[in-house]
Amino acid sequence: MSFSDQCTRSDPSEADSAALDREARAVLHTNDRGGFTVPSGTVYPFLWNWDSAFSALGWVHMDIDRAVTELETLFRGQWDDGMVPHIQFLGDAGGYFPAADMWQCPHDPPSSGITQPPVAASVMLALWQQGDDPAIRARLRALIAPALAWHDWFLDVRQDAASGAILTVHPWETGRDNSPDWDEPLAAVPVEGLPPYERYDDTHLDAAMRPGKHDYDRYVALLLHGRACQWDAPTIARTSPFRVADVGLTAMLARAHLDLARLADAADMPDIARRLRGDLPSLHRGLESLWNEDVAAYCARDLRTGQSSGRVTSASFLPLYGADLPPERVAPLVCHMKRMVTRARYLLPSLDPDDIDFEPLRYWRGPVWAVVNLMVADGLSRHDEPMLAARLHADTRALIAGSGFWEAFSPLDGSGTGGDCFGWTAALWLHWLSDSAGASRIEESRS
Ligand code: DGY
Repeated sequence: MSFSDQCTRSDPSEADSAALDREARAVLHTNDRGGFTVPSGTVYPFLWNWDSAFSALGWVHMDIDRAVTELETLFRGQWDDGMVPHIQFLGDAGGYFPAADMWQCPHDPPSSGITQPPVAASVMLALWQQGDDPAIRARLRALIAPALAWHDWFLDVRQDAASGAILTVHPWETGRDNSPDWDEPLAAVPVEGLPPYERYDDTHLDAAMRPGKHDYDRYVALLLHGRACQWDAPTIARTSPFRVADVGLTAMLARAHLDLARLADAADMPDIARRLRGDLPSLHRGLESLWNEDVAAYCARDLRTGQSSGRVTSASFLPLYGADLPPERVAPLVCHMKRMVTRARYLLPSLDPDDIDFEPLRYWRGPVWAVVNLMVADGLSRHDEPMLAARLHADTRALIAGSGFWEAFSPLDGSGTGGDCFGWTAALWLHWLSDSAGASRIEESRS
């Protein structure tokens, strides 16, 4: 099958696209808990940080007021130190581990004690560009200071001084929970004396799609470390048994920082815009520090050992989204992606299909994620790779049209994996993939 044949296969007809629009709207309504959108009612029954931000991109096509409310709820959970937590335990749903009583964070509303990829500012810019209603714009303007405080928290507490890269102290912060990027650093996390705990995720879903017990033990151990530090962020960053510089977090923060600067310009806040732009070189230096010449890709680096993961994951392509890369960085990434086209039916696998640990259905060890495809397609467009960008768009569309609004998809046969009725997948359909999405794609949010 040729490259272009693959691009157009199972593309939905106009009528199908309209039906999918209706279904996507219904998913967001089903997952709406009044001011915030759960990723998926059974598996993730609370507010998740980057899920919520991406859900706002879907709401904007139904009700811009509701879209802004989503972001306002997200920032209402912000801690005094600027961090925006990865989960806010809003509502009284059960069936999730680890719930608020496990985290024991001294915060109201109850939340986890770690963060997640800071994509909210990029979404704020996209919302700003949807119209010129002064009341909506005033509300978005009011979110600039909280977003800045969150970004500053990353720069103060999580930027590795030597390299400029952003470090994580828990795989959940990266959103790519069980990526093989974390295998070696996680293996070194001590788990002696761990109390017994009961998971629900592997009963809600096929356990073969979820992280294994070896990983979960270490996720819990890292949670307990944060708790022992009384959730003091500088102490955790200094003492965590898991300190890894992440390509994804660094790239998404770099892009969100730039998008916040663009938003500040548009909102007539030039001093903030100037200051934000001044931070960018250090984040770009951080990305460059993660380049692994041996595999010709950006890879996570264990800051405790200095070891690069040497894995090509979907995050390896996010620097295309986060920065303007020189040709000697773009060309090898494009080569990797073209090789993957010959190995996987659908782009972009979350792990290189040639990697020995590739598993097409297990969470971040192979499946395709729509939100990553959106960001990488944006990055490819801005680096003059329109064919590959179009391929990501077409594949994501075909996956949803063929299987529905799943959490993620097998790159081999397109089957859905993880939770169904998934909020951000529906949101991205409305914003990026539907026939009616038109010019409202996030990649066109560049000024
Ligand atoms: C989970 O529970 O699987 C989440 O990804 C943690 O954020």
